[in-house]
Amino acid sequence: MPALIDPEPLLGDDDLGPTGRPLPRLPEPLPPDPSRPKRALIIAMCNQKGGVGKTTTTINLGAALAETGRKVLLVDFDPQGSLSVGLGVNPHTLDTSIYDLLLSKNTAAEDVITHTVVEGLDLLPSNIDLSAAEVQLVSEVAREQTLRRALVKVRHSYDLILIDCAPSLGLLTVNALTAADKVLMPLECEFFALRGIALLTDTIEKVQDRLNPELEVLGILGTMYDARTLHSREVLERVVQAFGETVFHSVIRRTIKFPETTVAGEPITTYATTSPGAAAYRMLAREVLARCPGA
Ligand SMILES: Nc1ncnc2c1ncn2[C@@H]1O[C@H](COP(=O)(O)OP(=O)(O)O)[C@@H](O)[C@H]1O
Ligand SMILES: [Mg+2]
Repeated sequence: MPALIDPEPLLGDDDLGPTGRPLPRLPEPLPPDPSRPKRALIIAMCNQKGGVGKTTTTINLGAALAETGRKVLLVDFDPQGSLSVGLGVNPHTLDTSIYDLLLSKNTAAEDVITHTVVEGLDLLPSNIDLSAAEVQLVSEVAREQTLRRALVKVRHSYDLILIDCAPSLGLLTVNALTAADKVLMPLECEFFALRGIALLTDTIEKVQDRLNPELEVLGILGTMYDARTLHSREVLERVVQAFGETVFHSVIRRTIKFPETTVAGEPITTYATTSPGAAAYRMLAREVLARCPGA
């Protein structure tokens, strides 16, 4: 079990957090009740912009949630396979991938899911085949529900399922939003970041209207934050002005440690377990669990 989170590195002046609001004191999450049947809460990490921290958040939030005793499945839903790479899986050498799960009736999820170096953290890997799936799905009946159907069979084995979306708002991402209960939007603390949010919100609303009325926005996560620049702070201030309490208190700072973890093929919580980056994702895990009481 990890050490308790020291919130001090996350605190700014006046005990205000980086978003300019007082940081909540979140309790250490209790492990899930073993007598309760599992039905995973499904969260999609979504932003059509690339390089904003979707994959990094999927891996590290997943690992931080697994540290609390939860069983977590990470779904690589980007044909680039970065999530798989970040967990030490070579996408080019996979026998089966999420492609097979989506398109072949003879593939069971258990055949595709692999364990990772983190206890309680599993992976549904992907590779470039997934881009072919996007094309093939177009002609399928109920094409938007394909991922949802595939995940039904594994939902009872996990407490949480996190889907790492591709940087687009195409059919794959619509599938992810249709399968999900919640959507988490990582947002780079950079001026143009806000521009894409309207389009993303629009897509979420369409999915809510037509495919998945239960879908809710879980929160907006500031990433690539640089406390030393006025710019980063201003962007975060504007995001909070626009979206209020939807914005997570946890903010992920820009640090070279994250690219390093990709090379190492493991989450920051194991690679640099006492680093501020690991603490930030553990704090995010607490916020996520506080916002999703059943999970
Ligand atoms: N907080 C951070 N600080 C510095 N680099 C980061 C941070 N988060 C992610 N990165 C790096 O930025 C690149 C893009 O991040 P990634 O999570 O892959 O974004 P996305 O999945 O949205 O495309 C990766 O090389 C990753 O290691
Ligand atoms: Mg990615």
